[in-house]
Amino acid sequence: MAKAQSRYVCQSCAESFLRWEGQCRACGAWNSLVETLIREPSRSERTAARAIAPGLGPVSLADLRETDVPRLPVGIGEVDRVLGGGLVPGSLVLIGGEPGIGKSTLVLQAAAGVAAGVSAAGGWVMYATGEESGAQVRLRAARLGLLDAPAGRAVRVVAASDVDEIAGVAAQERPALVIVDSIQTMTAGGLDGPAGSVGQVRESALRLMEVAKARGIAVILVGHVTKDGSLAGPKTLEHLVDAVLSLEGERYAALRLLRAAKNRFGSTEEVGVFEMGEIGLAELADPARAFLVEHERPASGSVVAPTLEGSRPLLVEVQALVAPTAYGTPRRTASGVDPNRLALLVAVLSRRAGIGLASHDVYANLAGGLTVDEPGLDLPLAIALASSLRDRPVVAGTVAIGEVGLLGELRAVTGLERRLREAARLGFDRAVVPPHGRTAGPSAIPGLEVVCVPTLGAALEAVLSRPDGRVARG
Ligand code: TYD
Ligand code: MG
Repeated sequence: MAKAQSRYVCQSCAESFLRWEGQCRACGAWNSLVETLIREPSRSERTAARAIAPGLGPVSLADLRETDVPRLPVGIGEVDRVLGGGLVPGSLVLIGGEPGIGKSTLVLQAAAGVAAGVSAAGGWVMYATGEESGAQVRLRAARLGLLDAPAGRAVRVVAASDVDEIAGVAAQERPALVIVDSIQTMTAGGLDGPAGSVGQVRESALRLMEVAKARGIAVILVGHVTKDGSLAGPKTLEHLVDAVLSLEGERYAALRLLRAAKNRFGSTEEVGVFEMGEIGLAELADPARAFLVEHERPASGSVVAPTLEGSRPLLVEVQALVAPTAYGTPRRTASGVDPNRLALLVAVLSRRAGIGLASHDVYANLAGGLTVDEPGLDLPLAIALASSLRDRPVVAGTVAIGEVGLLGELRAVTGLERRLREAARLGFDRAVVPPHGRTAGPSAIPGLEVVCVPTLGAALEAVLSRPDGRVARG
């Protein structure tokens, strides 16, 4: 093969330069130059590429055969669920998350899980880390109780940050799974940029992908996320890999959520719920209940919402606090919910339901550090705000869900029946929901009274307890 050279290529006009510059001289774009390896194919390679190998021509759709994708189960039910049944040999999975959220813990547990499955047949797992030393990995493994297990023998650690070394070992020794923690610490030969730069990250991932596809090895890449929540490194990395998972949660709370943002071998609807404990990430027996908080007495400013994460119903407590603004502009602080949505609901409440918050600070959050961005959370948020302002608790045993329109009207949410069944299972006996419109409403659920209300005002009437303590049961 001809010698590879590194060039700085503009990502918007594809012009290449010898040196990095802040602005592309060809198209004027700022910060668009990325170090890239240019491989000029030799003359013999160019002619060889022309001939098509037999059996590689176009095939009609009807003649394509259905192949069962083989899977490597990770052995952690919640992870397998999100992956769609396990890792696919030859595929790349990117796991992103904020520092300290538990990525290294999760992948080490996954390494042991896969190793336990493949070790009987002589298979093993390679854990490559550019972030920690072998001793640090050992400490973590000891804490997770993975050293004594027979699987502990089948996980082999490589502490290196040279991606060619890792890819070389993988190509030669053929582990069932290669884990790279993290892709931002890897450097590829031939590039001059520092580890973590766009060019390095992309080239490192490409080299690992070559080995993965050629040898049928599953690869998990750990990636850091930037402050704004996107995966650091190029967007191209997300296009390149087969699945993008993100590990979310609040660092100082125990609950973690694993979501799939992209999955070529499964649904992106599934979420996994974990708890970070003394011995790593553990699955929860009843995830639907995980985000609920037990209260001694009904408290104003709180309501339970049956949300739907993919196909999984999660009951979550929405909390709000409303307090008179001391001076200046009122604050609107949201955590776990969309701040724009909160601002909009404050406006709708004042115009359509007579709940004026113009001179109040407003704080809203979800219990347990969960983040939910479904529109169905509108109604619970509005209820929590009204409940806090009026100091009237929500009637005990009530859940509420629904999208709120600008006119104060309520709009239907998807999967209502599934949400309500879960609420009934967890002991709630009343649900305030929007009218079903053209879609079929939920069938009767034993033990659950379903109250359909058309507007925000009617919903508030139905859920807030009366000042005299009596309940507006209808
Ligand atoms: P880590 O997996 O190192 O996070 P990341 O790789 O995403 O940066 O784990 C981070 C935190 O998890 C760390 O502060 C310690 C805590 N932890 C536990 O609570 N229990 C455990 O069993 C382990 C291994 C870590
Ligand atoms: Mg780590």
